[in-house]
Amino acid sequence: MSEPIVVAIDGPSGSGKSTVARAIAKDLGWSYLDTGSMYRAMTWYLQDLGIPLNSVAEVVAAAPGAEIRPSTDPLIPGVHVGDTDVSDPIRGAEVTSAVSAVSAIPEIRAQLVELQRSIASQARNGIVLEGRDIGSVVMPKAQLKLFITADPQARAQRRAAEIDAEVSQIQESIFQRDQADSTRATSPLEIAPDAILIDTTDMQLAEVIDHVMQLIGDIDG
Ligand code: DC
Repeated sequence: MSEPIVVAIDGPSGSGKSTVARAIAKDLGWSYLDTGSMYRAMTWYLQDLGIPLNSVAEVVAAAPGAEIRPSTDPLIPGVHVGDTDVSDPIRGAEVTSAVSAVSAIPEIRAQLVELQRSIASQARNGIVLEGRDIGSVVMPKAQLKLFITADPQARAQRRAAEIDAEVSQIQESIFQRDQADSTRATSPLEIAPDAILIDTTDMQLAEVIDHVMQLIGDIDG
């Protein structure tokens, strides 16, 4: 069996990368993996167990028990922890405010990166993975690496529209998460040297998708 084509999409939250990644996978009949949902699901699991997240030793001891099962079907995105569907709770404020701290722990990253690679290796034709460290760490040999971004105001507006919240509140939480994700010691959010930067601040979603489909056509053909 030939290796699946791997497209790595990284970028900060609210950049539109999830929507783009899912749309591309849907169009091509490929698998899709939202790695952020895995860090969120891990955070949910630890919180559900009542593990104090400021105790790295307790977090590291409990984490291997988490059976994180993300969907790879772009038509039905979501994630289970064991048999529990946590797709909704992982988007709530409790998980969102704690996930950066959990995702900064090297042992957690090692566990989830291993799982991400294993899922990618099982994809049939191709897979689009999206996150913060896909091109740099998880899939350094991806055939196409994209870094999708937008200015913070545009990202806050998009997120606010998605979850029906105040832009100012979202802007603050996006800023804090950007800071935490970009400055952590292990695999900070960074642009892989061979990634193509796409700034979507003044682009419509359809334009971004068209552009990415063209780039994929170039590697494919
Ligand atoms: O994309 P998101 O907002 O659902 O990501 C949730 C958190 O997980 C965010 O704080 C960054 C972190 N994350 C990460 O560290 N590495 C990834 N590959 C994906 C997400």
